[in-house]
Amino acid sequence: MASHLTELTNEIAQLKTKHQALILAHFYEDGAIQDIADHVGDSLALAQWGERASNPVILLAGVVFMGESVKLLSPNKTVLVPDLSAGCSLVDHSPYSKYLAWRLKHPDAICVTYVNSSAEVKAITDVCVTSSNAEKIIGAIPKDRQILFGPDRNLGRYLAKKLNREMMLWPGACEVHVLFSERRLKELRLKHPDAIVLAHPECDDGILNQADVVGSTSRLLEEVRTNKARREFIIATEHGILHQMQRSRPDAVLIQAPAEGSCACNECPYMKMNTLEKIRNALRDLKPTVNVSSEIAALARVSLDRMMALTEGRPVDWPAAFRDPQLSAPELHPS
Ligand code: 13P
Ligand code: SF4
Repeated sequence: MASHLTELTNEIAQLKTKHQALILAHFYEDGAIQDIADHVGDSLALAQWGERASNPVILLAGVVFMGESVKLLSPNKTVLVPDLSAGCSLVDHSPYSKYLAWRLKHPDAICVTYVNSSAEVKAITDVCVTSSNAEKIIGAIPKDRQILFGPDRNLGRYLAKKLNREMMLWPGACEVHVLFSERRLKELRLKHPDAIVLAHPECDDGILNQADVVGSTSRLLEEVRTNKARREFIIATEHGILHQMQRSRPDAVLIQAPAEGSCACNECPYMKMNTLEKIRNALRDLKPTVNVSSEIAALARVSLDRMMALTEGRPVDWPAAFRDPQLSAPELHPS
């Protein structure tokens, strides 16, 4: 008799064919979800696959802002996320009205916003970035322009140092990545002197200063895959990425960087809201769908389009100054 997992997987495959759906999954999803996806990637790759796909239905197994990016870039596609409550602490840390007030205080600056943000915040942003294209994009901003960077202060601080470029930083942080313990990582490195430390730039300075490689999820995976000179890797990012790392290097010893207590706090609670059952239900019912009002979508798309253009090496125009778009859409978050 087929196991529950096999039945669910078969059902998902049939529903996918029925709706010509494409399943995209982020590296932080459970291994079982990654295994049924057409593509597994970082947040930039997911947005690019979503935009290029000809499928009328895209199921995004990740968090809601990732589904919003796909919807903004492909407004005519049905974009499903298995659970609409799969948020992100960086979205929570950057409510629209406060971000708008910050922008209005610095109207001449270019506002660079990490894609881990709401569609409304993207609508008052000049250019979006992900952790894999941020250096290239910030490098393309004219040197005489001031830069506002939000909502992740750690990514912002890391980029400012690396690019030797002053930036005003929004004080948000990822609730998962800030929990890695500097003290315990030091101890772990002493126990594993040959291990390479890989860290996502959302980690605090105390972790990044100890890292041999700092980068997006895809960059960290690439290091494990290609660095054949090493076998031991200490990973300071969400646990789900270990699934693809182990697949690409079955011989590698992968050690999760520890948090201060004995919690499972290096798992993103939002990513982990997704399950195979919820994916099956979403494909069966064609809901929940991600929707962005046309007023917000028109503006948010501009900042994502600039990101895509600069990522592909195409030039962009920069606005001379910011003006409050006086958005009235009902989904605006109260501060
Ligand atoms: P990546 O863009 O590196 O996939 O990161 C997304 C994310 O949410 C990290 O916490
Ligand atoms: Fe957001 Fe952090 Fe989860 Fe990434 S790991 S989705 S930044 S809460």
